[in-house]
Amino acid sequence: MLLLAAAFLVAFVLLLYMVSPLISPKPLALPGAHVVVTGGSSGIGKCIAIECYKQGAFITLVARNEDKLLQAKKEIEKHSINDKQVVLCISVDVSQDYSQVENVIKQAQEKLGPVDMLVNCAGMSLSGKFEDLEVSTFERLMSVNYLGSVYPSRAVITTMKERRVGRIVFVSSQAGQLGLFGFTAYSSSKFAIRGLAEALQMEVKPYNVYVTVAYPPDTDTPGFAEENKTKPLETRLISETVSVCKPEQVAKQIVKDAIQGNFNSSIGSDGYMLSSLTCGMAPVTSITEGLQQIFHTKSRFRTSLGKSEGLMAPGSNQLGQVVAPPVTQDAGPPSRGPHSTHPRPGAPERHHCSTLVFLNCRPTWHGNPQWLPSTTEVVTMGLFRTIALFYLGSFDSIVRRCMMQRAKSEVADKTA
Ligand SMILES: NC(=O)c1ccc[n+]([C@@H]2O[C@H](COP(=O)([O-])OP(=O)(O)OC[C@H]3O[C@@H](n4cnc5c(N)ncnc54)[C@H](OP(=O)(O)O)[C@@H]3O)[C@@H](O)[C@H]2O)c1
Repeated sequence: MLLLAAAFLVAFVLLLYMVSPLISPKPLALPGAHVVVTGGSSGIGKCIAIECYKQGAFITLVARNEDKLLQAKKEIEKHSINDKQVVLCISVDVSQDYSQVENVIKQAQEKLGPVDMLVNCAGMSLSGKFEDLEVSTFERLMSVNYLGSVYPSRAVITTMKERRVGRIVFVSSQAGQLGLFGFTAYSSSKFAIRGLAEALQMEVKPYNVYVTVAYPPDTDTPGFAEENKTKPLETRLISETVSVCKPEQVAKQIVKDAIQGNFNSSIGSDGYMLSSLTCGMAPVTSITEGLQQIFHTKSRFRTSLGKSEGLMAPGSNQLGQVVAPPVTQDAGPPSRGPHSTHPRPGAPERHHCSTLVFLNCRPTWHGNPQWLPSTTEVVTMGLFRTIALFYLGSFDSIVRRCMMQRAKSEVADKTA
């Protein structure tokens, strides 16, 4: 009995230790805040700017084309909630020259004050088979999608740390969580963002600066339309198995997560599942986020399975009766995301294969229930995540300890 009580006590203390770094950050107040949105002249970036503006923020839009910037400014200004709000436009290529990016950010800060939130949304996608893509495409995507996020972040981080306030948002993609046919160049540039964001979060968390990585699915934007023109057939077919999201919906979710300081921002239930499955040792910034990742997988899996059309024999609701067709015919994974909010115009009705199911299925589709994870597998995943969080917590405390030690020696130096 005594032993049991001791075990409970140890478990409780461990749990407390684990969750202690997961205290939710204070939400960022957008009224009066200065929000910089790179790629803010079009698509998701423009919708993010509108969403922030609607909540009272001052906006700096960053992109290259001046006409598009001015057009976006006019559109955003229609949503003002007070007459003090300002939309500033800056034309610069975020991927070329760090000193240029640093200069324009400095100018924006002089006009609208220190940056409270930076949204790195400038980006582009080019697809093609690995051997068909020019080497320069890899360089270009890495430069725009990755360095184009590094430079603006680098330009604002010092002030954010000094002020002990800030949010940095990186717009990755579901192709940054899962590699898909045709996206060897794009996916790697979006995966790189996650590595950057995870490492940066560990550095800046003690300074009350929070990082969010957004993983949007296919979204109806000018960039997406442009990308579709050159997609390989396989990529297009995979893409057509799901519908596209509206940029307004994606923007709303990203802004909400950034305000809360959530590390992960995904859209819809499939996006959520994908994030749960691919979270690895990604940081969490709230107890809720951590607990969801630990316990979510099992329940989602069951729910998704029960609901997925095309996965069950008609009229069947038994998990074992899987009748999903081969990936390249009627069902498959998303191109950049599986989430469906409205039907893709003109697309034939297709079976829907959720990301989770795709990720777990093995080539033997027909009537073979082998791909279903057992309760043990699911529990093991939860356990792994729990251990991962434990380690993350200890890494965070090392960072905090070093920070405190440095502060102490600075004080000692001054008094000496
Ligand atoms: N749409 C999707 O399905 C989808 C899905 C997942 C992730 N994403 C990601 O979401 C972000 C926005 O995508 P979107 O579809 O909204 O694209 P979009 O409509 O093409 O908008 C891209 C924006 O980025 C700017 N931009 C591009 N390259 C730039 C550079 N080198 N320097 C400065 N600004 C630059 C563009 O303006 P200028 O051309 O004038 O510079 C434009 O404002 C991208 O990072 C994309 O990879 C999109």
